[in-house]
Amino acid sequence: MSAEVGRDPPMPDGEAHDSLTRGAPDPAAVGDRFDGQAVLVTGATSGIGRACALAFATRGARLLLTGRDHERGRQAAEACLARGAAEAVFQSADLRERSAADELVQAACQRFGGLAVAVNNAGHQEARAPLHEQPDSVFDAVIDTNLRATFALLRAELRVMERGAAIVNVASVSGLRNPNPGLSLYSASKAAVVSLTRSAALEAGPRGIRVNAVAPGRVVTPMMLASGIADMPAVAAALPLRRMGRPEEVAEAVAWLASARASYLCGHVLAADGGFLAG
Ligand SMILES: NC(=O)c1ccc[n+]([C@@H]2O[C@H](COP(=O)([O-])OP(=O)(O)OC[C@H]3O[C@@H](n4cnc5c(N)ncnc54)[C@H](OP(=O)(O)O)[C@@H]3O)[C@@H](O)[C@H]2O)c1
Repeated sequence: MSAEVGRDPPMPDGEAHDSLTRGAPDPAAVGDRFDGQAVLVTGATSGIGRACALAFATRGARLLLTGRDHERGRQAAEACLARGAAEAVFQSADLRERSAADELVQAACQRFGGLAVAVNNAGHQEARAPLHEQPDSVFDAVIDTNLRATFALLRAELRVMERGAAIVNVASVSGLRNPNPGLSLYSASKAAVVSLTRSAALEAGPRGIRVNAVAPGRVVTPMMLASGIADMPAVAAALPLRRMGRPEEVAEAVAWLASARASYLCGHVLAADGGFLAG
């Protein structure tokens, strides 16, 4: 075998090329640890958000967890400490309240001195019904939680974040290709989260802040189990991977997107969907 095989080809004018990638980390060198870094996770009392909190805990982060349920929040924080979090505190908040996002980001900054990562995951899904039967109160509940709160969180987070920080929004395959008759408001809100993610990425990218999203498919959580699917085994069997997902599988995608290993991903929507969108 030739000694040349496997070598990088010579780059003409190396310095000029270096200037084209100035500021880029070496992803292979940075690893996926978050030791001592401040991470905010919304919707951390259950399902995907709880799994995200644990994924960052395992990687040594300092965590502010939030949700509405005190007891589940306290337990999630305890589980994070047991997994290796440098710090894990729970602060309850109802994200439908207009001041909640600002208060959470302020609390994270006061406690940790800044915010390196935010996972905007909390979400609400309406009871399945045709659009023409949905009252305004349901519209308000879904849009307040999924869209307005994501906007308010992004605004507060981007005001305090510095170069190197990362945000991951939790959207849904429903925001990209709608498999859900009867969930019109949820699907519309998640399409809006995808759009907000892309706009925020365009604006924050030049500051060295990456904004991305994950789009989970069918993941077994309390929300999915309450979503009115009549035949769960049939839905699972119809997916390319022939099964639904676990919250931990989405959390790994979130942790990777937030890490410097994903340093060139900006405005991306990463489907964690067992292949659903491939079909
Ligand atoms: N599971 C799936 O198949 C799937 C698929 C696509 C997208 N997603 C998205 O993934 C995210 C997490 O969902 P999940 O499946 O893990 O559901 P889940 O287990 O029901 O968790 C939802 C979380 O959101 C929080 N939350 C809801 N309304 C809130 C409010 N007004 N204020 C503060 N927190 C609130 C809940 O907190 P409390 O319980 O403490 O109130 C809970 O922690 C959501 O954005 C959902 O749309 C899920």
